[in-house]
Amino acid sequence: MHVHSRRRLEQVQRHPEQSRAGTRVPVRRSDPRITFKPTLTPVSLLLAYLNGQFLPRAAATVPVEDRGFAFGDGVYEVWRVVNGRLFENERHLARLVSGLAELRIAAPDLARPDVLKAVAERLLAESKLTGGEATLYVEITRGVAPRTHQFPPPATTPTVYATVSPFTPADELRARGASCITVPDVRWLRCDVKTIQLLPNVMARQAAAERGAIEGIMIRDGIVTEGSHTNVVGVLDGVIRTHPTNNLILPGVTRAVVLDLARSLGLAVREDALAERDLRRLDELFLVGTTTDVMPIVRLNDQPVGSGAPGPIATQLARTFREYLDAACAAAHAA
Ligand code: PDD
Repeated sequence: MHVHSRRRLEQVQRHPEQSRAGTRVPVRRSDPRITFKPTLTPVSLLLAYLNGQFLPRAAATVPVEDRGFAFGDGVYEVWRVVNGRLFENERHLARLVSGLAELRIAAPDLARPDVLKAVAERLLAESKLTGGEATLYVEITRGVAPRTHQFPPPATTPTVYATVSPFTPADELRARGASCITVPDVRWLRCDVKTIQLLPNVMARQAAAERGAIEGIMIRDGIVTEGSHTNVVGVLDGVIRTHPTNNLILPGVTRAVVLDLARSLGLAVREDALAERDLRRLDELFLVGTTTDVMPIVRLNDQPVGSGAPGPIATQLARTFREYLDAACAAAHAA
């Protein structure tokens, strides 16, 4: 939520390692081999859309009685943007609309394809993000109302927020492979809905970061479900394996694209969950997600995975996915 966006702006401006606006600052991690390089564009330069108005992100605030702030009562979506084009726009929009329906929040205009396209184009253009890599973030909450758990009066209008951010893919890390840890999956039983209630995901990712890892892979009842912000794919006995889409995972857009690409390459794919005990004898492991692409995992819980280097299937899928992403966004450009 963006209640504290002004304070965040000040924090960004006072970042001790930031020498001037827009420089790339390596985030300090316990593992010096991990060099994430987020692009710190001053928040003041990024445009936001809030309840029908365009305004600088630093000026976008919501009332403290917003149900997103009080209850995490809302949904969100994250698109990858390349060259100003939204990757897999329809799939992200469909997931947003179905999440709204699950929570019985009336879909706002922004959930219409034409409105989303127009808003995204303006956000990208005015934030100077029509070239290269970016993300689009959309959040919709049940709106502002005095705090009571049940739904507010029907006239309450949803809070509708969108913004764009610069993005840098972690390609150096992809080339050498990353580390993960396993954590218990303590989430509710509707992980298929992309709600803004992300505390278990936050705790999982923080536990990973504290051990020099990029992701906490969640285990429920001895079964590998997904990561805090990624889907998890393994290669076991030569077969690509991942959790089937049901209530226990988010049906990832990247997951769907990567599995299609794998099948089209003639690779064996089974949407059948890995057990925790399978993790010790994997050939390969990789993460897939909008801000992760295909990321080979070479260490899990401080032990090597497979050969201890990015495996051939993860490497092939990472390359094929990048080509597909570039081609899809170039094709959309020509349309
Ligand atoms: N996360 N699983 C979870 C729990 C996620 O939050 C995400 C995405 C994914 C991957 O889904 P997709 O390929 O559609 O991005 C899987 C976004 C990027 C986020 O929270 O920032």
